[in-house]
Amino acid sequence: MPEVSAASPESLPTRIGEYRVLRKLGEGATSEVFLCRDEFHDRDVAVKRVRESAVRDPVDGRYYSRFFAAEAALVGRLQHPHVVQIFDAVDGPAEQYLVMEHVPGSTLRRYCRADQLLPLELIVEIGFKCAMALGYVFRQGLIHRDIKPANLLAVESGGHLTDVKVSDFGSALNLGADITQVHRVGSLTYMSPEQLDGAALNAQSDMYALGAVLYHLVTGHPPVEGESQAAMIQGILYGSVVPPSQRRQGVEPAVDEVILRTLQKQPADRYDSWDSFANALAALITNRQVPRGNLQAVLDSERFNLLRGLDFFSRFDDVELWEVVHQARWQRFPIGHKLMRRGEKGRDFHIIAQGEVAVRRDGQTFETLDAGALVGEMAYLAPSRELRTRTADVEATDPLTTVSFTPETLGQLSLACRQRFSEAFISVLVRRLHAAHEALSHPQRIL
Ligand SMILES: Nc1ncnc2c1ncn2[C@@H]1O[C@H](COP(=O)(O)OP(=O)(O)O)[C@@H](O)[C@H]1O
Ligand SMILES: [Mg+2]
Repeated sequence: MPEVSAASPESLPTRIGEYRVLRKLGEGATSEVFLCRDEFHDRDVAVKRVRESAVRDPVDGRYYSRFFAAEAALVGRLQHPHVVQIFDAVDGPAEQYLVMEHVPGSTLRRYCRADQLLPLELIVEIGFKCAMALGYVFRQGLIHRDIKPANLLAVESGGHLTDVKVSDFGSALNLGADITQVHRVGSLTYMSPEQLDGAALNAQSDMYALGAVLYHLVTGHPPVEGESQAAMIQGILYGSVVPPSQRRQGVEPAVDEVILRTLQKQPADRYDSWDSFANALAALITNRQVPRGNLQAVLDSERFNLLRGLDFFSRFDDVELWEVVHQARWQRFPIGHKLMRRGEKGRDFHIIAQGEVAVRRDGQTFETLDAGALVGEMAYLAPSRELRTRTADVEATDPLTTVSFTPETLGQLSLACRQRFSEAFISVLVRRLHAAHEALSHPQRIL
């Protein structure tokens, strides 16, 4: 394995293919990653170039080409908000490189240091997002096989970690296509017993690795430590793991339970699916088993689960739902807040995520709406300006959480997501039309 050397300024290339190199972002065993300018698309990209010395390596060179090929095969295939997107792969005679989405920030390595540990709720949140992302990856027929802190990119803004993205699919196993498995000699620290054994791998192998990363993030130590490689192997295969609560104050037994379950030696003793693992993580937050900091009023995972439970979003898939979580304006209102007034013009609309509103005309309540209901969509959908006037007063009768959109924010969603909105609008309108018909043909029912 080539030595990973510190970047020296003179080693910075000026261009890679058509991309102007701005600076170095990081490096792994086989490659260097540079921040580059994609002039054509007017965006910054991360370009991962296989090290020349790696390809030329007489023993391992062909393996390194396989890592490149594994990742290159995924161009455009993985589209998930918590998976780094691979835009392009160039397999030229002079150089091999991948063009990816640039993730501004660092990696989770930084947050494994004992003096840099994150709040527990944020770690659980990261775990939830990674579990959902790896569930998506697994449904695409892939096992990542190299989940470790350096391969989980941290999105940072204003010096704070705000999001996470799974990256480095160089070791990925394609269950549908790979006949032989490339064996990567990497860090043992997060490797599952079955991977160490060279046994058949499944979703549970990545689950073990993610559990080991979460363990490290919580405690500042990996679950298995050893002086030598032999001691590590012994520990992974047979050693017991110190519960996280013994290494960090404030860790509840429920948190121990979730993490230790993913670190079971037998894959069958871990969670049976990514969804059940993700749900167990989300439940820690819902059941208040992690201390709530005041980082964010509502965590993304809670928002995601809130929307998942609403009828309106029942036909949205996970990726579309994450888009809504990220693009919508989330608002909270106290009791008595007037969300809308009759006669006002406006085109924003709201979906009630929590709470209740009264719909009134001339002071008379004629409808109450709660979670999942649409408010204000008639003006939004109105075909002409005159019809964009609110026809009723809408007032919060319970503390209210809404997911709100304007035509502009809705316009920024992907085509697929907007399509889901249209379908959901249509079904709401059809139900309403049906109710109106019923009311007309059986007037006594509404008296
Ligand atoms: N898309 C990206 N945006 C920002 N930094 C990245 C990106 N991809 C990789 N990096 C940085 O480069 C390092 C090495 O990338 P990685 O894909 O893991 O290479 P390797 O396969 O050699 O391990 C990462 O640990 C990270 O610091
Ligand atoms: Mg890597």
